[in-house]
Amino acid sequence: MRKKLLLGNWKMNKTVGEAKAFALACRSIVEFAGEHGVLVGVAPTYLGLQTVKENADKHLIVAAQNVHFEDKGAYTGEVSVPMLKDIGVSWVIVGHSERRTYDNETNEKCNKKIVKLVHEEMTPVYCVGETLEQFEKGLTKKVVEKQLRVGLQSLCEKCIDKVVIAYEPVWSIGTGKNASKEIAQDVCAFIRGIVREMYGEGAERMLILYGGSVKPENIKAYLTSPDIDGALVGGASLQIDSYRAMVENLIG
Ligand code: 13P
Repeated sequence: MRKKLLLGNWKMNKTVGEAKAFALACRSIVEFAGEHGVLVGVAPTYLGLQTVKENADKHLIVAAQNVHFEDKGAYTGEVSVPMLKDIGVSWVIVGHSERRTYDNETNEKCNKKIVKLVHEEMTPVYCVGETLEQFEKGLTKKVVEKQLRVGLQSLCEKCIDKVVIAYEPVWSIGTGKNASKEIAQDVCAFIRGIVREMYGEGAERMLILYGGSVKPENIKAYLTSPDIDGALVGGASLQIDSYRAMVENLIG
């Protein structure tokens, strides 16, 4: 039985002080989620990671929004796996569409990061999804399959369930135009099928999330779909009240 997961992606939001306030305020939410076997987490900026680790309930998953695949060196502006491990961070978002769009994050680069993270026994949350143009041309599955086949290459069969996949159609991110639960379920089932082809039955244990304009009012519909195990949420994860409401609604 796969667990349910709510992961908030804060993107470039919250000062360290604001991140600390959220970490303290969400203690009871993490406890409540834990009592119901639900995993909850947030991905602050690099600056907020340590303060969230130090102030939140220890069961809150704390994820970085990016990482470099080398351990150290002349890579100005980057942060490495050992640096994250040093502050107890073991989850990392890889290949978010905003990084693919603005920072030249390719499938090949994502693959190097995912291989590194899995090797270090960390958890990558690999984001895949098509643009509006690709969606309108009916290319969704072709695009997603390529992202999976390149991004997930060179992993081992027994470690595939350490990877989390997030299906985030680019046209639904921050637009209020969320994909219908039928579309989301169809693509998430397709993703599981491709991963099964690549790595076998470990795909059945792998968590697949939907992301794109998820809010308290629609989270339950996604989370009751058979191949959707959770949500990767941007805007609605920033305020403690809507974060709490999403946890309550997905449980209730
Ligand atoms: P929104 O929930 O704001 O649409 O963002 C989704 C997202 O990009 C999460 O990574």
